[in-house]
Amino acid sequence: MQEFVQEILISDAQIQQRVSELGAQISLDYAGKEILLLCILKGGVIFLADLAKSITVPLEMDFMAVSSYGSATHSSGVVKIVKDLEESIEGKHVLIVEDIIDTGLTLKYLIENLKQRQPASLKIVALFDKPDNRAVDILVDYSGFIIPNKFIVGYGLDYRQFYRNVPYIFVPNPEKDPRDR
Ligand code: IMP
Ligand code: MG
Repeated sequence: MQEFVQEILISDAQIQQRVSELGAQISLDYAGKEILLLCILKGGVIFLADLAKSITVPLEMDFMAVSSYGSATHSSGVVKIVKDLEESIEGKHVLIVEDIIDTGLTLKYLIENLKQRQPASLKIVALFDKPDNRAVDILVDYSGFIIPNKFIVGYGLDYRQFYRNVPYIFVPNPEKDPRDR
C-alpha cells in the first residue's frame, strides 16, 4: 500500500475539519428548514455519513445511482439512472451530495432531471472539485477542496472499485496496486 500511495493530497484530519465547516455553513443557511440530502452513489456515501453528522437542521436522506456511458476515465455526458429515488422530492429543499465534480457532465444531466420534479430548492455540495477539467458550467453551492487535474482515490473515491474506505485522499501509482500481486 505504501508504494501504491504516490502522494497524499489531503489528510484525514484536513477532510474532517473541512466537512465540519461545510456542515456548519449548511446548518446556518438552512436554519428553520428541513433538508433532503440526495447522495449520489457510490462515491458520495462516505462524505454523506460524515456531513450529515455535522448538520443540525432536520434532514432526510435518499440515494441515486447513475452510470455514464463511455470509458472509465472519460465522461460522455450520456447518463443512465441505475437507481432512482424512493420518494418524491416535490416541495422539498434538496441538497445533492457529490464526491467530486470533474467535467460536470453527470451533474448537469442530474440537475435537469431533478428540476423537473419540482423541488422547493436544489443545491449542490461537492467535497472535491476539479475545475480545470470542466466541460459545462455548473454552479457548485458548497465545495470542500479544489483539486488539481489528477486522478485521486480515497474517502469514497475508488480505484477499480476498491480503496473507497481509505480515510485520506491520495494519488495512486497504477503500477503498484497491491491487489495485482
Ligand atoms: P463528471 O461527470 O466528469 O463530473 O464525473 C464525476 C464522477 O466521475 C464523480 O462522481 C466520480 O465518480 C468520477 N470521478 C471523477 N474524477 C475522479 C477521480 O479523480 N477519482 C475517482 N473518481 C473520479
Ligand atoms: Mg460519483
